[in-house]
Amino acid sequence: MYVCVCKAVTDSQILTAIEQGVCTRKKLTHCFGVGKDCGKCNKDIIALLK
Ligand code: FES
Repeated sequence: MYVCVCKAVTDSQILTAIEQGVCTRKKLTHCFGVGKDCGKCNKDIIALLK
């Protein structure tokens, strides 16, 4: 399932990155570009981090 439609990033990509130590929203934004366009995915990314 896409978490960030703007950047076409899926929840499994985000979860894999979190498992590999990408532990903040800022770092995920840096790696994938998520959350910078419309910003709608930020709440879902924060939920995945919890
Ligand atoms: S859905 Fe992630 S920035 Fe738009």
